[in-house]
Amino acid sequence: MLVNRDRGLDPVDYAPANLVAMTDIGISSMNEHSLRAEAADAIVAMFAAAEAQGIILDMTSGYRDAGLQQQLYDRAVETDGPDYAKQYVAPAGHSEHQTGLAADISAPDQEPDCILDTCFGQTQAGQWLAAHAGEYGFILRYPEGLAGTTGYEYEPWHFRFIGVDAAAAYAASGATTYEEFVAASTTP
Ligand code: DAL
Ligand code: ZN
Repeated sequence: MLVNRDRGLDPVDYAPANLVAMTDIGISSMNEHSLRAEAADAIVAMFAAAEAQGIILDMTSGYRDAGLQQQLYDRAVETDGPDYAKQYVAPAGHSEHQTGLAADISAPDQEPDCILDTCFGQTQAGQWLAAHAGEYGFILRYPEGLAGTTGYEYEPWHFRFIGVDAAAAYAASGATTYEEFVAASTTP
């Protein structure tokens, strides 16, 4: 499913049924978040592969209900101003996090200064994820310089689970955004 600023969830307080808590499956999650089961399985495989390369990851933010998303938006407006909020935070009902299929990933032990920060993209963890997430069905959803299409500035930490086959098709398509991929695809 495509969820962005223009395409919201219906109902606005949509919640997925099959959420899995990271703490129940041995995945580090500093905010104790959950993901839909299929995305959770993929996280387990991806984090193990990263660890085999010496990269220790944390699933920092996953499923967020409409209420939490609204709180985050309001807090961003308060602390960083409305322009920042618009560039980085989705309103309730418009966040991929509310689908349970988006994961904000960090490496707090190795890269404590780049948690949910642009500099994560330059870290070993960020670069490994950018190169390998697709093998596990995740895509980097907000690439650099494409806010005009995605609606959001560069978020090297935000990965969206679309499934292994779709991620392979995405890579092969040459699309630079999920919006472009979906528009060119015959799959709704
Ligand atoms: N940071 C992403 C855009 C969200 O709030 O869903
Ligand atoms: Zn995110």
